[in-house]
Amino acid sequence: MMDKQRIVVLTGAGISAESGISTFRDANGLWENHSIYDVATPEGFQKNPALVHDFYNQRRRQLLQCEPNTGHLALAELEKSFDVHIITQNVDDLHERAGSSKITHLHGELRKVRSTVNRNLILDWDNDLSIEDKGPDGHPLRPHIVWFGEDVPKIEEAVEITRKADILVVIGTSLQVYPAAGLIQYTDFDVPRYLIDPNAGSISSTFAFEVIAENASTGVPLFVKKILHG
Ligand code: APR
Repeated sequence: MMDKQRIVVLTGAGISAESGISTFRDANGLWENHSIYDVATPEGFQKNPALVHDFYNQRRRQLLQCEPNTGHLALAELEKSFDVHIITQNVDDLHERAGSSKITHLHGELRKVRSTVNRNLILDWDNDLSIEDKGPDGHPLRPHIVWFGEDVPKIEEAVEITRKADILVVIGTSLQVYPAAGLIQYTDFDVPRYLIDPNAGSISSTFAFEVIAENASTGVPLFVKKILHG
């Protein structure tokens, strides 16, 4: 049997918007009424860890109420016919819950926490987190989230996955945050590429994307139909 073709999918906040999770750049640099500096930088965490915990506790509680939408589900379905690798900037677990099996989280995972000292000591965490909580190493815990100004440990793995793409699909990301945004440059020039986003910006012409200008919940199923049946 021939190997399945590899589809590499880069997802951002837009794929989870219709599941009820806010995107980032549709809100004037404010994120659920907080400045990004206060809640998504190591300096913000050092200054006011309780505020940062409170912020991610709310995000975590909200996530537990959300469900994958037909966009996430269509990508999981695609695994029957293709070798699908999802590289996501999202910290939610909606791709996992939809049933996708190969998922690289570039910016961390909301339902995990880690030691502030040992970055590889990562725990599953569905409760609220507080400054009193400590890991098995005795050090305080922090959200397992990549904040602005921090390195992105999974980027090399993501580059290797992207280099081997036979088809590239970008869904619901403004491609403004690096190094994630730079990933699309690692595919060969002749690799077919699709962009699913209701507000497709200039990258579509710069990088010759075929645009499906739809919300993810309708656009991803449309893409799947197209790639399966032409
Ligand atoms: N379906 C598909 N796309 C949508 C939808 C939808 N229903 N609604 C909005 N979008 C698109 C927007 O048009 C935009 O292009 O999703 C994109 C969201 O862009 P951002 O808010 O910038 O989110 P993202 O690109 O994921 O942000 C990247 O920035 O703050 C950091 O770490 C955070 O991972 C995040 C990174």
